[in-house]
Amino acid sequence: MSAPAFDQKDGWIWFNGSFVPWKDAKVHVLTHGLHYASSVFEGERAYGGTIFKLREHTERLFRSAEILDFQIPYTLEEIDEACNATLAKNGLTDGYLRPIAWRGSEMMGVSAQHNKINVAIAAWEWPSYFSPAERLKGIRLAFAKYRRPDPQTAPSLAKAAGLYMICTISKHDAERQGYADALMLDWEGNVAEATGANIFFVKDGVIHTPLADRFLNGITRQTVIELAKARGIEVIERRISPEELPTFSECWLCGTAAEVTPVSEIGPYRFTPGKMSEMLMADYTAAVTPPATKLAANA
Ligand SMILES: Cc1ncc(COP(=O)(O)O)c(C=O)c1O
Repeated sequence: MSAPAFDQKDGWIWFNGSFVPWKDAKVHVLTHGLHYASSVFEGERAYGGTIFKLREHTERLFRSAEILDFQIPYTLEEIDEACNATLAKNGLTDGYLRPIAWRGSEMMGVSAQHNKINVAIAAWEWPSYFSPAERLKGIRLAFAKYRRPDPQTAPSLAKAAGLYMICTISKHDAERQGYADALMLDWEGNVAEATGANIFFVKDGVIHTPLADRFLNGITRQTVIELAKARGIEVIERRISPEELPTFSECWLCGTAAEVTPVSEIGPYRFTPGKMSEMLMADYTAAVTPPATKLAANA
């Protein structure tokens, strides 16, 4: 039996301050967020009952909203509390959370000065973003036809729904060709990121990753950089041209959903998931696991 559609699950969704049954968490078709992509969201994971870097995610949600010229009508504390309550209300300890804020239906045009800002939070089980078998061997990436937009063209640093339009098209195109995902270049032709995750490379024991000043500086990306540095590994953030891809030995993607996922191919280039990817996958798992869960696992 196939899994139910996302509007047909059971559970509770936090919707503008209170819980509503999952199937009743609806919006009208004349919603500004739907027509004009005036919506920002987060993707969070909980491990052993603790949402990893919850405050950082909530702060990013608020920053993304500000970039889209609206304010979330709650405090950071209220949203943190609502995320924890959503996890608990749905009986989850390990799962994925999706807070989202969007402009409502009060005005229907480009201008949305008086539209209400709505906020909802859903949580569900989501064990692995890429297929677990594929993940260990390393996933295969195609090159995306679309490029990440210039920050002068679009609000590139916000986690805004509108920016995902080119990601869905690129991921579909990659999947049709048998790849798991697509590598997107920036508007100048440098390596940027995958459609929902940041990218890292290894050359001669040093980690190289694109400078995140023109796309989402992922919370996982920042965590992986800290973990590598804590191991004494040098991490260089810089522009990386696609011509350099054959000079790297290892490659991985990272993001809240993808966690740390080795990459074995990008178009014609090959990488061998090795010690560095394995070490950072293990370090990331240790970092996201709350102390109580670690104690229980070792008992
Ligand atoms: C386009 C894009 N880049 C990067 C990331 C990684 O961000 P994070 O590690 O904060 O989940 C994500 C996932 O949210 C994403 O959608």
